[in-house]
Amino acid sequence: MISLDTSNLQSFLPENWLTSRLDFLRHAAGLLDRGDGAGGEFTGWVHLPRSYDRVEFDRIKRAAQTIRSQSKALVVVGIGGSYLGARAVIELLGRHPEAPAIYFAGNTLSTDATLELISKLEGVDFSVNVISKSGTTTEPAVAFRLFKNLLEQRYGKEEARTRIYATTDSQKGALKGLADSEGYETFVVPDNVGGRYSVLTAVGLLPIAVAGLDIDALMQGAAEAMAELQKPGPDNPAWCYAAARHALYTAGKRVEILASYEPSSRFFSEWWKQLYGESEGKDGKGLFPASVEFTADLHSMGQFIQQGERLMFETVLHFRSPLGSLSIPHDPDNVDGLNFLSGQDLSFVAEQALRGTLLAHVDGGVPNLLLYARRREETSVGQLIYFFEYSCGLSGYLLGVNPFDQPGVEAYKKNMFALLGKPGYEDRKAELEARLR
Ligand code: PA5
Repeated sequence: MISLDTSNLQSFLPENWLTSRLDFLRHAAGLLDRGDGAGGEFTGWVHLPRSYDRVEFDRIKRAAQTIRSQSKALVVVGIGGSYLGARAVIELLGRHPEAPAIYFAGNTLSTDATLELISKLEGVDFSVNVISKSGTTTEPAVAFRLFKNLLEQRYGKEEARTRIYATTDSQKGALKGLADSEGYETFVVPDNVGGRYSVLTAVGLLPIAVAGLDIDALMQGAAEAMAELQKPGPDNPAWCYAAARHALYTAGKRVEILASYEPSSRFFSEWWKQLYGESEGKDGKGLFPASVEFTADLHSMGQFIQQGERLMFETVLHFRSPLGSLSIPHDPDNVDGLNFLSGQDLSFVAEQALRGTLLAHVDGGVPNLLLYARRREETSVGQLIYFFEYSCGLSGYLLGVNPFDQPGVEAYKKNMFALLGKPGYEDRKAELEARLR
């Protein structure tokens, strides 16, 4: 399972940083379990690894099989919580070499990026999975129009319908209405699961399964984490992580950096940033979630982390065992002076980089949390997903916010609709145009 080493926090926090929060953590765990805290109507994800809909799960696997047999590419249309989870898992674990290419659309309004994707699909059989709980989010709605048109031009209306899979609300919303009238196969975003907690529903599972990854093992890992994290007490890694974040925030830290030594974890970090940023950044509070990829970023952001403004702490995500081994060759000329490493495994060098960096950053005033996962495989990624989601719920309650809403996201949308001339926004449009003049 996942384990958390908090020993490099000791010099930055009072001795009772964890024990003083245990009572509240017990209370917060109860709120999550019963779903009667702030935003409790969106805590369906808490029991999901055990209670998920097995019938739909089998249908996801069958649909994935169909997509794999009919297409060489899948375009996944979605944004935010309807996008990042699938991409995080697929990039972290790697698509099966024989699986269709997975492309993501609807997460940008960039003409260039969209044209680039359209050109990649030339001569390539493809299917579309459009994902939107509300069905009205502008970016995916616009992208879906474009890719639906492309499918219809390529295959005709009838066949296009069989290549479109919609993941949306079970009953309401624009996409649900369209899917029903057009006869698309649909999957459900459960009512009680918000976007950023939805990777273990059809939202994440269908693209992940199309990529040839083992969604049974992913859910199995999440179920293991769920069982483990339900045990109360100071040894519970989610309780520790939530308490450490809160203690560090109380001690004046304002930024949490998620550091990983795996380049493939870039989108996992993006998923984590959305999870924590959207859950906690409200009411004038919250840690700003940032991420770095080591060792590459030690040669860029490393300088700031070591000696810049002391406002951050680091959470280092470390996979204990690599998936293979690579021995460093001997060089008779030894021009780089590295023969003292000949025959050593590359992972040994990486391990010393991690240990050395950790101590340097602690010496530089950056508290460090070390989060260990077993290896990059479906089970441990399922564990990590559940660990971060559960810790986030606890952490949000410790902070005193509703970790399951995102009222701030509306502000830009209203302005954009007004500037685009959406009916009903006329007054706001006039006001904004005057300010922008
Ligand atoms: O976490 C969230 O709720 C958001 O990031 C949403 O997932 C995002 O805005 C997309 O919403 P929808 O699925 O309704 O298109």
